[in-house]
Order: sequence, then C-alpha cells, then structure tokens
Amino acid sequence: MRVLIVGGGGREHALAWKLKQSPLVRELFCAPGNAGIARLARCVPVAADDLEALVALAREHRIDLTVVGPEAPLAAGIVDRFQEAGLAIFGPGKAAAQLEASKVFAKQLMAKYRIPTAESRTFTTAAEACAYIRAKGAPIVVKADGLAAGKGVVVAATVAEAEAAVQRMLVDREFGEAGSRIVIEEYLRGEEVTLLAFTDGTTVVPMVAAQDHKAAYDHDTGPNTGGMGAYSPVPLLTPERQQQIVTEILRPTIDGLRQEGIVYRGVLYVGLMITATGPKVLEYNVRFGDPECQVILPRLQSDLIPILQAINDGRLAEETITWHNNHTACVVMASGGYPGTYTTGKIITGLDQVAAMPDVYVFHAGTATHGENVVTAGGRVLAVTAWGETRAEALDKAYQAVQAIHFDGAHYRTDIGRRGIVLRH
Ligand code: AMP
Ligand code: GLY
Repeated sequence: MRVLIVGGGGREHALAWKLKQSPLVRELFCAPGNAGIARLARCVPVAADDLEALVALAREHRIDLTVVGPEAPLAAGIVDRFQEAGLAIFGPGKAAAQLEASKVFAKQLMAKYRIPTAESRTFTTAAEACAYIRAKGAPIVVKADGLAAGKGVVVAATVAEAEAAVQRMLVDREFGEAGSRIVIEEYLRGEEVTLLAFTDGTTVVPMVAAQDHKAAYDHDTGPNTGGMGAYSPVPLLTPERQQQIVTEILRPTIDGLRQEGIVYRGVLYVGLMITATGPKVLEYNVRFGDPECQVILPRLQSDLIPILQAINDGRLAEETITWHNNHTACVVMASGGYPGTYTTGKIITGLDQVAAMPDVYVFHAGTATHGENVVTAGGRVLAVTAWGETRAEALDKAYQAVQAIHFDGAHYRTDIGRRGIVLRH
C-alpha cells in the first residue's frame, strides 16, 4: 500500500514510525512532515490544511490510504472531500468533527444523551455571560466555542478573571469567530486522564490510557500548552473505571451521534476529570492526542493498518487489537518561551547519541533540516519517548535521553509521570 500521513508534528512522527513497521505499507508519504519524519517517509511540502492540494497529492501518488493527524483539516471536511474524490481516508467527517470544533455542539450532545460533564451554559453576549459568572461565583471555566489551538479555555480563579476572559473572547474577539459563542462551565475538581478509542460508528474499542501534562512548568504551574509530556498506562484508570467510561461516556457518545445521523469513524479522544461523583467529560478531540499518541502507539502490538481498514469498512468488531504489557513515557523538549513567543532555527545536537540508546525513540515535533543540521522549527520541538518494564524505568530512560540532547533555550518539565508514581501505592 501507499500511505499518506497528513500533519507534521510528534503525533504524525509516531504514526509514521508505527505505519512504517507494517508489512502492508510499501511506500509512506507525509505532508508536510518534519526532519524526523523525513527519515521514514517521503515528505512533501503541502500544508495540512490545504485540502485541494492534498487531494491532488493523493491522486498524483496513487495513495491507497490517507491518515489525518491534526484537527484543522478534519474540521474543514478533509474526509468528506477525499470521499467525494473517491479516495480512501481515515478520520471522522466534518459533521462528526464538530465534537471538537464546537464546544456548544459537544455540550448539546452530552446534555441530550445524558453523558456526564460539567454543568454549563452558552452565551453570545458579554452582559449575560458576566451576570451568570457573578451568580455562580469562582472558580469557573470560560471556553471559546471553536478551535483556538488549545488556548481557548480559561480556568478562572476569580470572578474578575472570568469576566476578563469573556471580554477578550466575546468583545475583543481574541479568537475571531471561534469566540463568537462561549461556554461557561462549572469548575470540576479531580484528576485528569485521557482515554482514546477506535470506533467505526458502532463498535468502540478503548486504547490503553495516557495522562498528558498540559501546564508549561513543573508542579502543573504556568500557562496551558499543547502537552509537555505523557505516560501510559495510568494507575488511576483501573479496569473497572475504564469500563465505566466506555459504558457511560464513549458508547453513549457514538450511539448519540448515530441517532443524530452522524456515523463517527476514526479515533475518539475524551479528556476526563475523575471527580468524587465519577468521570466527567472535559473535552472531546476527534483524533489522536499529541503527545498521547507518542506513548500509546509504541504500546500497540497489532499492525495499525488492518485496524484503520476495519474501521473504514465498519467491521471493527471483527478485529483483534493487542497491546504490549509495558510502560511508556514521553518528555517534550520545547523552545524557550513556548507557549508564548519563541525563536526557531537553533541547532539540535545529541540526536545521534540518543539513536544508539536502547528502548528510546525521539519523535520530532517541530524540526527542520538545515544543511547538515537538524534545527528547531516550532514551539514543541522533540517528544523524547522511552519504554520499559515499569514506569520508573521508562521515565529514567526518557530523561537520560533528554539530558543528552541540546539546543539553545531548550525547556522541558522535570516531573513528567510523577503523579503516576505517587498514585501507585
Ligand atoms: P480543554 O481544552 O477543554 O480540555 O481544557 C483545557 C484544560 O482546562 C483541561 O485539560 C483542564 O485542565 C482544564 N479544564 C477544562 N474544563 C475544566 C473544568 N470544567 N473544570 C476544571 N478544569 C477544566
Ligand atoms: N494533548 C492534548 C491534545 O492533543 O489535544
């Protein structure tokens, strides 16, 4: 098969790494890819959201299956567009992608099908939103309706902070149209966990769980990022709790969508808060998480291609999916200043040394090739991933590798996976 991956971050590098191992894949392409992906796939300089150019690329190279990494092309309807063109593609269609692209849509679906989530209301005017905030008090959470690159959520500790967020979203239009409607929701206390599932719109098969670390600095301080590290499995997610999430959240979501006339085929991601009254949905994503994907795919024992094909054919129930019984950990090395402003083009050293380390793989998130060098080209630069018999072993190996890699201003968290270790006893 000839396979095209859409995207160019750490998640797409992990997808390329896994797909490259499939005996069914003869040629692998990636648009646009990065310096790490270029070692596994032929990278083509086409942007992940340029749907027409991607259709042309798939036709030109007679691609048998396209796999979409990021949310933007899914929300823009890449799957519908490819299907119209008679091209096979993996991911949910535009209607299904609203689950991530519109928090209002997601909230309405959860309310209608009684899926546990934070209590909320939707607003389009600042006066009404602020009156609601004052009535409810803080802490309280303000969310832009649309896609805002992970920056559209404000967890406000005070009423003033929440009102300021309303002002920025509804009045100043910080996120443009994505903030023309906002959701204000109850603040949930508890531990966060991510569960991803494969689904063909009827059958739901959960993957192994992962825990992301969204805050920029140690001890969960600093601004929210796309994710600074992850590990799997997650001790918090006992088999019983996982089953509860499948029964109370994943299945009703997929069944509810189907009742709305939407068949969801792809990867469904639920961000959850495990509260005193059970798991509740914080958010849905319609794709693999980044960096969750980097700790989940190395644990997948089965070939990924037959799973993707079974999903597309609506026969996931017949597929056997097996996982390695190991632990994985991923530490993200970011550019100094991320998630704020940062500069790129810094030379990265130590990658060859790390390539010789056993049980370690460096997924590139934002890198480019410059002459003989690999240089930084994004906020998140590398997703340094390792595996072992225990979480401590996986973390040790990941941090040993991180210490061998250098670039100017490199920043990473030193406490990835700590919560998992503390929670073990
Ligand atoms: P989201 O993009 O909706 O997952 O929100 C980003 C982050 O904000 C989450 O990972 C949580 O840490 C936090 N968050 C979102 N919604 C809530 C909530 N209702 N209560 C507490 N924290 C929240
Ligand atoms: N790691 C969070 C996300 O992929 O949205």
